[in-house]
Formats: sequence, structure tokens, C-alpha cells
Amino acid sequence: MKPAQRPLTLAQQIQPPPATGQGSVENGTVRVRQHVNPLARRWSQPLQLPHEWYSQAFQDPSLPLVVDVGVAKGRFLAKLAASDASRNFLGLEIREPLVHQANRAAASAGRGNLFYLACNANVSLAAVLADAPIGALREVYVQFCDPWFKKRHAKRRIVNPPLVEEIFKALKHAAAGGESYKRKVFIQSDVIEVAIEMRSFFDGHGGFQRLGDSNGLECDMEGWLVENPIGVPTEREIAVFNKGGSVYRALYTLKEHGKESAHCE
Ligand SMILES: C[S@@+](CC[C@H](N)C(=O)[O-])C[C@H]1O[C@@H](n2cnc3c(N)ncnc32)[C@H](O)[C@@H]1O
Repeated sequence: MKPAQRPLTLAQQIQPPPATGQGSVENGTVRVRQHVNPLARRWSQPLQLPHEWYSQAFQDPSLPLVVDVGVAKGRFLAKLAASDASRNFLGLEIREPLVHQANRAAASAGRGNLFYLACNANVSLAAVLADAPIGALREVYVQFCDPWFKKRHAKRRIVNPPLVEEIFKALKHAAAGGESYKRKVFIQSDVIEVAIEMRSFFDGHGGFQRLGDSNGLECDMEGWLVENPIGVPTEREIAVFNKGGSVYRALYTLKEHGKESAHCE
């Protein structure tokens, strides 16, 4: 006789786990591949989510939205969501088993302002953000999310000009009612080449203003932010810090129309 099927959780209803996942659950711990190639066919199509998924995912869909791209286990976002009930937090991650585990943890903590989606952010960001209420999107974080620091893997990197343009369009759309300065992008990496590349894409886009000394944020000689402005370190950030490594950070707002940029150089 077949065992009785457990009812699907809310997260599973929105995004059912695949029949054959990339990982398996052993002793309650998810075993996952270290890297997933975002160029693989499996991840080449934009995510198709059920209509109304956004209002199912968040208890109060009208709250301002923060999106973290490449969340891995999502613990950083879980801490933020626990400390700030006034905003919704959405994590995007390509390693699917981590997403299902993070959503289970969020549900058992009763966190109505935290949700994770399994997707390739490069092809799905626009589709995902299209479902957020107009004006909701406030901040986008991309933190240590590039395992592809070798030159030959550069085309797998998440931050590229099309992604920067998608982030810009989504924030601009959200700021249509005003308050562009409240729309922010935060990037950080411990790999200097990756950090420089990410920063050059945002600096070169033309729609963003990099914040720094003139905005009361201390920068080093190369213009990297000295402190993490979010105030909560990610898992990778903690690991880098424990090894005594360096982190390269930049914070942007949308450029207000007609304003000169005030780069931190
Ligand atoms: C080094 S981890 C960093 C995790 C977390 N942001 C932190 O700072 O601790 C990078 C994560 O980004 C994810 N990632 C890489 N490319 C992605 C893509 N195109 N879409 C979504 N997630 C991606 C990886 O699977 C990985 O979990």
C-alpha cells in the first residue's frame, strides 16, 4: 500500500519541488551541489509562477520589498526578516533544495514576511518582480553571489549588464510615484576582480548613483564602503571575516533625474 501523501506546504503549492532534485535530504540536512551552472537548459526559461503567488507568499503584500539575489541557505535574509516586520524579504537562489529548506524554516518560524524562490535570477528577475505590487520594490542585494571568478567562467557570472538593466527597470518602475532615493542596490564580494566588474556595470549604467563619503558613508582609498550599510552580515561575509579576508562593497540609489552623480572616489 502506498504511504499517505503529505499535504503540500504553501511554498510547495507556489513552487513544487521537482520529482528528481539536485539534492537529497539526509538526517534532516539537505545535501546540495556546490555550484549550479546558470547556463544549463534547465535554467534557461523564466520562472512560471501561479497567478496570485505574491499574495500567497507574503502575509501583507503591500509592505516594501527587499530582494536578495543568490541567498544560498537564506540565513542572512531570515535574520533581517525576523528583525524587521515592516518589510517583505524575497530570496532568489538557483540551488533548489536550499530554497525548499529555507521556506520550510521560514514557515516553521511563522515568518509571513519571508519567502524564497528557486530560479536563475538572470532569466527570471523581471518575471518575478512583475508580480510585486506597484511601488513595493525598495532594495536589491547581490552579495558574494559569484562563485565564477575564473576568467573562463565569467559568462556564468550573475551580475552582467542585462541584469543591471533589469534591476534598474524594476526599481524605476517601483519609483514611478516618487522617492527614487529610497530605491537601493547593495553589492559586495570578497573577490576583487568580481567586485570591480560588478561596480563597473552599475557605475557605467547611467541610471544609478553610487553613495559614499558625501552621503555620510565612509569609503576606503579605492572608493569601497568600509562598513556594511545593511548591518547584518551574510554567511559568506562572516566566513571571509573569520579568515581575515577583505570585502569590497558598494551602495547605489537610483539617480534622481537631472542630478549630478556623487561617486565615492
Ligand atoms: C557564495 S554563495 C553566497 C550566498 C550569500 N549571498 C552569502 O553572501 O552568504 C552564492 C550563491 O548564489 C547562487 N547563484 C549563483 N548564480 C545564480 C543565479 N544565476 N541565480 C540565482 N542564484 C545564483 C549560488 O547558487 C550560491 O548559493
